[in-house]
Amino acid sequence: DIRGFILDLDGVISNTSVLHSRAWQQIAHKVETPWHPKLSEELKGVGRMDSLNLILRRGRRRVKYSLEDKVRLTEEKNKLYIELVNKMTPDDILPGIKKFLDSLKANHYPIALASASRNAPLVLEKLQLTDYFDQIVDPAKLRKGKPDPEIFATGAKLLGLLPEECIGIEDSAVGITAINAAGETSIGIGARHVLRDAHINFADTRDLTLENIKKRL
Ligand code: BG6
Ligand code: MG
Repeated sequence: DIRGFILDLDGVISNTSVLHSRAWQQIAHKVETPWHPKLSEELKGVGRMDSLNLILRRGRRRVKYSLEDKVRLTEEKNKLYIELVNKMTPDDILPGIKKFLDSLKANHYPIALASASRNAPLVLEKLQLTDYFDQIVDPAKLRKGKPDPEIFATGAKLLGLLPEECIGIEDSAVGITAINAAGETSIGIGARHVLRDAHINFADTRDLTLENIKKRL
């Protein structure tokens, strides 16, 4: 029986994956990595330093960046990202999500947030959604990021539930892998070919309703 929900933030609740991508594009330009649309997909769900490493690996420059340089670049990216986040309002909640969260509350399902982003609390605040979440996993306390199951396993634990009692919702391929590896039911939001391993797939956040989920369980 499903007793709780664990949600990703960027790309599920808000369109912030686009903002992350926009900020990373500026950093990519700086380190002379030609931007490829594929990168936007690859960076979804991936933590800050790992994202930078991905961008550097795709670049033509064979310079070695010191850890200090890399920290500076991630800080620069974060500054660009926060500038974008500060302009956000509740209008930036993806379609159908507010209604979905309301229906979870009405049905007394506890909700946890499993975002790799250290900016997640700020984004929730901007969207005025903080109060919906019973638990927020702190990514700074985790040993491994997605696709490791740790973040979704921690979400279940914080809710006091078994993994098999939880549904995880994700827009990234690494996130779906993490949910499945945690032993939870996975819902992928977005293109089926990207989210191949999701137990349930919805093309759009508008389709994410309790009714639709129950039909597919
Ligand atoms: C994930 C995003 O949710 O968080 C990634 O999908 C991002 O794009 C990662 O890199 C880390 O976010 P932040 O805000 O801590 O740099
Ligand atoms: Mg995401």
